[in-house]
Amino acid sequence: MSFSRTILITGGAGFIGSHVVRRFVRKYPSYLVVNADKLTYAGNLENLTDIADRENYRFEKTDITDKKSVSALFRKYPFDGIIHLAAESHVDRSIDNPDDFVMTNVAGTVNLLNAALSAWSGNTENRLFYHISTDEVYGSLEGGGAFTEQTPYDPKSPYSASKAGSDHFVRAYHNTYGLPVVISNCSNNYGPNQFPEKLIPLMINNIKNNKPLPVYGKGENVRDWLYVEDHAAAIDLIFHKGKPGETYNIGGGNEWKNIDLVKFLCRIMDRRLNREEGISEKLINFVRDRPGHDLRYAIDSSKIRNTLGWKPTVNFEEGLEKTVDWYLSNTQWLQNVISGEYVKYYEKMYRNR
Ligand code: NAD
Ligand code: TYD
Repeated sequence: MSFSRTILITGGAGFIGSHVVRRFVRKYPSYLVVNADKLTYAGNLENLTDIADRENYRFEKTDITDKKSVSALFRKYPFDGIIHLAAESHVDRSIDNPDDFVMTNVAGTVNLLNAALSAWSGNTENRLFYHISTDEVYGSLEGGGAFTEQTPYDPKSPYSASKAGSDHFVRAYHNTYGLPVVISNCSNNYGPNQFPEKLIPLMINNIKNNKPLPVYGKGENVRDWLYVEDHAAAIDLIFHKGKPGETYNIGGGNEWKNIDLVKFLCRIMDRRLNREEGISEKLINFVRDRPGHDLRYAIDSSKIRNTLGWKPTVNFEEGLEKTVDWYLSNTQWLQNVISGEYVKYYEKMYRNR
């Protein structure tokens, strides 16, 4: 079968990547979608079992920090579009071990840029390197206002510094070599398939198991939450309609203090688990704050709303309820992720490939 386009999606076995891969595989049967992922602790092919056998989907186990693997991948497929999501993504892990973040987020991104530049040398028409970034590169809002595309970079954690570094390289390759690139910076995502080290799935899992709910500091920090499928829709739109060289901020316009969010989640869980109202809240446990904890993120997404017509479609209550229901009905997924069982799953599935 011949395909109209060949798209590389890196990090497609992770949380956001799996939603993007599913969307592209289903919506664009004429595209060949190649998911390249190292399958770190955060990468899980169980996220994609429903589309794994589709004719227009391929999985390639690839470490983007390994130049040889990246070159081999670009020799094997004639990519005309790249959506780069592979990254180390957890702030707490970056505080513990920044090195992996430099390697994957900065060096890995540069390896992909070099591979794209070399593959597309002389022909950049209808080619696009789309880099997925975060609002955290802008730093911490200590008062009011929101991040715009013009807000100066001021990353505060090793994670956000590594993402900022990768964004700078992507722009530098556009400016210096004319590589067609686009970047989007999104706020906090939530939804099915998120690794339970991040706030919302961690709290759902702990509430379910009657374990303490570790709220950092006083729980005063504010995040702007967006349902993951709304992010995937924005990525689809930017990939097809975004202007090369531009940056787009994506956000939910949905700011929550952590403590209010955790209490809200407790109330949903009480109802779902038929617990007496207020019982789960008693599990809240204020713990030592994250070092250098950014106080507030908020995104001004008027550019993507006005120029590309995107807006979030899932309201927070509905999205959280869907997310809670997904985690409560996918206990095996959660168990496998927590126990490392999905590594065995991968070995079984790909032993003969
Ligand atoms: P995730 O941690 O769930 O998934 C990351 C994926 O990248 C995993 O499948 C992992 O196996 C893969 N990966 C890691 N190192 C790799 C390497 N060296 N080579 C190949 N693959 C590798 O992350 P996520 O939350 O889905 O985030 C995806 C992207 O979106 C990241 O670039 C992140 O910075 C960005 N982002 C995330 C959020 C959020 O709220 N989660 C918000 C804005 C932007
Ligand atoms: P997280 O999901 O790690 O995303 P990020 O740090 O990238 O915003 O954390 C979201 C917020 O929740 C952040 O302010 C830190 C806080 N938090 C807790 O209070 N307790 C936790 O156990 C975790 C994981 C996060």
